[in-house]
Amino acid sequence: MNGVHGLTAEGPDMNTPEDPTLFTSVDHTADPTFFIRFMEEGHRLPDIISSRGIVMDTLHLVPGKRILDVGCGPALDALDLAARVASDGELVGVDLSEAMINAARKRIVGSTASTRFEVAAAEALPFDDSTFDACRAERLFMHLTEPQRVLDEMSRVTRPGGRICVVDFDWQTFVLYHPADEPTDLIISGLIDDMANGRIGRQLPRMFAATGLSDIGVHLHPVRLSLRFNELFLGGYLTRLQREGRLAPERAQLGLSRS
Ligand SMILES: C[S@@+](CC[C@H](N)C(=O)[O-])C[C@H]1O[C@@H](n2cnc3c(N)ncnc32)[C@H](O)[C@@H]1O
Repeated sequence: MNGVHGLTAEGPDMNTPEDPTLFTSVDHTADPTFFIRFMEEGHRLPDIISSRGIVMDTLHLVPGKRILDVGCGPALDALDLAARVASDGELVGVDLSEAMINAARKRIVGSTASTRFEVAAAEALPFDDSTFDACRAERLFMHLTEPQRVLDEMSRVTRPGGRICVVDFDWQTFVLYHPADEPTDLIISGLIDDMANGRIGRQLPRMFAATGLSDIGVHLHPVRLSLRFNELFLGGYLTRLQREGRLAPERAQLGLSRS
């Protein structure tokens, strides 16, 4: 479940230009750097930080292992992942966006582990079968039009007995406090519909089984969004809702308190 404490008294920053449902076309937006700032801010959230330990434990990373990060974005966990597989292991990241891959390459400078970041589509991973010991995708599947195909690809490139971890949201569990119900309901139902897979969180276990994976585990992890992150997250999205005539400007001014 995603918890929200509230927004600033002025409402979200309506100057935020980009819509965070557009993560499939980062390089074609007016400001690809917005999406990097967005991920950086998200990775500062205490509940995202605390989720990392769960992911790392799930992946069973030890020195010498090869790991693939699918939809790696700006590779904000790269140094941690690289340190775990150490100099005789390998970290490979792929992402559809060149801007993200460039940011990832800059971040990894100075790492002693073998690392590689490439532009590639998750739907057609450019690796042989059983190349990796572990494969992960975080906050990617909600954006995919063919999530089962991507999970099948992740399974193909992971060796038998290897580990696969997918972390994602389920926007139907998004809790947003607002004095009026109607704009709140509109934002939540809009997010569910405008994300390619707004309810992917609940669908993942069945998809894992359909891919033929075994020893499937599920971790539910609430994420509270900070005011600052919410302004980035909802700012661009509310602008879109207004532009498309789905939300009147006066209703978009949420006017939530900080308490
Ligand atoms: C919300 S970001 C998550 C980034 C990173 N996993 C993280 O959690 O910090 C989603 C990423 O998936 C990438 N992406 C979207 N569709 C993709 C696809 N079909 N194949 C590969 N990457 C994709 C985007 O460019 C973006 O970097």
